[in-house]
Amino acid sequence: MREGAWRPKLVARVAAATPATVLEVGCGTGAVTRLLGAALPDAAITATDVDPAVMSRAAKRVRDPHVTWTLASATSLPADAASVDAVVCSLVLHHLDPEPKAAALAEARRVLRPGGRLHVADWGMPRDPVEGLAFLGLRLVDGMGATRQHACGALPALLRDAGFRDVTVHDRLRTAWGALELLEAR
Ligand SMILES: C[S@@+](CC[C@H](N)C(=O)[O-])C[C@H]1O[C@@H](n2cnc3c(N)ncnc32)[C@H](O)[C@@H]1O
Repeated sequence: MREGAWRPKLVARVAAATPATVLEVGCGTGAVTRLLGAALPDAAITATDVDPAVMSRAAKRVRDPHVTWTLASATSLPADAASVDAVVCSLVLHHLDPEPKAAALAEARRVLRPGGRLHVADWGMPRDPVEGLAFLGLRLVDGMGATRQHACGALPALLRDAGFRDVTVHDRLRTAWGALELLEAR
């Protein structure tokens, strides 16, 4: 997964805008949350996930007093409209079928204040047969339906369809499971 290569890049990009409020969607066991806490010691960070067991592991592992842990679905985030400076969504969207994926992006847009940033790390379109084969392995595990839009490179367009502007893929890394892309949008 080359985690040491891309997670710090994702977090550096979030931290560059010094957001005061950060909402992480699908925090899993807290690998990104821990880096966010270290990079943004003055920010209020809310880490969310839909799986209580995973979230409990994350809270025990990270132990950061300025992180609030909240059980929540990506499609119903625990924040008021236009209240958050940055939403971070790492390796979550490819788990969602097209309809909930679009709903999750709309929800991220709802909670972001005007000018707020969405940061996504997720799978992009394979560019050669080796990446294609690697990504097929991941798709068989994580679900062909949920990963289809990623396989055809539709993620930037999905962000635009959800109302985001200035959508950029600012990094792309070749990994053992395919091409991981880092996106930012306003
Ligand atoms: C591959 S893990 C990624 C965890 C973490 N963001 C990271 O980068 O290591 C995917 C996470 O998304 C969560 N997830 C899946 N569907 C979700 C949903 N609808 N709402 C919120 N979280 C969800 C899972 O529980 C899991 O913890």
